[in-house]
Amino acid sequence: MTARPAAAPGHAAAMDAMYRWTRHLYDLTRKYYLFGRDRMIRDLDLPRGGTVLEMACGTGRNLAVIARAWPRAELYGMDISTEMLKSASAKLGSRAALAQGEAAGFDPAAAFGRAQFDRVTISFATSMIPSWEAAVSNALTLVAPGGSLHIVDFGDMAHLPRLLGAVLRAWLARYHVTPRHDLVAHALTAGAKLGMRGHGERGMGGYYQLVTLHRPPAA
Ligand SMILES: C[S@@+](CC[C@H](N)C(=O)[O-])C[C@H]1O[C@@H](n2cnc3c(N)ncnc32)[C@H](O)[C@@H]1O
Repeated sequence: MTARPAAAPGHAAAMDAMYRWTRHLYDLTRKYYLFGRDRMIRDLDLPRGGTVLEMACGTGRNLAVIARAWPRAELYGMDISTEMLKSASAKLGSRAALAQGEAAGFDPAAAFGRAQFDRVTISFATSMIPSWEAAVSNALTLVAPGGSLHIVDFGDMAHLPRLLGAVLRAWLARYHVTPRHDLVAHALTAGAKLGMRGHGERGMGGYYQLVTLHRPPAA
């Protein structure tokens, strides 16, 4: 059996400290700089009654958008921050099942009684998860046959004006955010080992990056 990695010491507490108060302004402020989330959601193309797990779901903003677009979808969310989960729970009520956990080691069978999902999403969280490669590898295993993994996060900002890119990177670093330049390469390589195929995309001059991987249907 493969051991599931635990959270970096103090990380859950750091996330709770960061979001304890800011979670109340999160949805309002992030719509001005977490670009690419709605593009990721539009691409989900959920089957009727399909299941969705958002890893590191935060305030539940994305799950709420998914619920509006696909009213019959079965929704699940997890996050390391119990503070963020308070906001998600207030927003989603019984519309989504929620659980606290570390993305790299999260076991949804134990938390929700379901091991795999038609769609798994990670939105603007790999840049904050210390063991992000393990989180992506774990997420890949949670995709059901015929399903897909969708990740969006900050990119390398390579095609933004140089000063703007430098200012943005410095500002993000103050908030524990590190853009993962090898996110697409890592996800595609890890997915290929599981027989999954996909592609990466960039948006807004590299401000954000998206990666999508599909698991073949069961034979
Ligand atoms: C920038 S917020 C993104 C929230 C949401 N996905 C969105 O798109 O609005 C990052 C989230 O990642 C969560 N997070 C950070 N490290 C995590 C980890 N190791 N495991 C699970 N969640 C984590 C934080 O608590 C926070 O809710």
